[in-house]
Amino acid sequence: MSPQLYVNLDHVATLRQARGTPYPDVLEAALLAERSGHVAGITLHLREDRRHVQDRDMERVMAALRLPFNYEMSCAADIVAHAVRLRPAQATLVPERRAELTTEGGLDLDLHGALVAQTTARLQQAGVLVSLFIDPDVHAVQRSREIGATHVELHTGSYAHAWGTPSAARELQRLQHAAAAARAEGLALNAGHGLTVANVGPVAALPQMNDLNIGHAIVARAVFVGLDSALAEMAEAIRRSASNT
Ligand code: PXP
Repeated sequence: MSPQLYVNLDHVATLRQARGTPYPDVLEAALLAERSGHVAGITLHLREDRRHVQDRDMERVMAALRLPFNYEMSCAADIVAHAVRLRPAQATLVPERRAELTTEGGLDLDLHGALVAQTTARLQQAGVLVSLFIDPDVHAVQRSREIGATHVELHTGSYAHAWGTPSAARELQRLQHAAAAARAEGLALNAGHGLTVANVGPVAALPQMNDLNIGHAIVARAVFVGLDSALAEMAEAIRRSASNT
């Protein structure tokens, strides 16, 4: 079976925040994505600095959406409380650094293991599935299981960055090893960051890959062809690669 596409719509909010206008509306984009039939769920990242998605976006999308909602977040206390109140289907815990352009690395589960474990337990008690965003590294996979997560999302940023260069094969191999470790630990496997129609294939082809969280490339492509077509292109790229394996 092909992995499922979860579209991350943060950058619809980025366009809106760039001008402080009410448009483009994140909820309208989420409903268009839902109606397209190309996605299995919607992801939004409520960052601590609120640079794109706002609390109201999370609430409006959660209230109107029928598809599962993946609430991407750090372990900041106010955001954890907000997520516990909204009870999304899934939360993805990520590290956040104020000055970063985007989520630059996976969680450091040696340094922040206690806080991540506490946040994971709190969300799970509220009935939320918890996925940890980690670098494709066997130790991080093992720590995720020890911490009590049921899902991991492998960070594909280094792979995407290396795409088209001689180091791409090595980066893909890191993903393959981490994915095998996740399967061995009984963890459900997600992946995302920097994926495009061109580079998604080998990631979609990893055995037992569940959800691919893809945002920037889809929203950027939607500027030219519309959201529906951009989603169709990505869904097709995922299906094509998975059916070749
Ligand atoms: N997964 C996680 C955990 C992320 O932080 C992001 C970026 O917000 C994505 C997936 C999607 O990355 P991109 O926008 O590059 O597709």
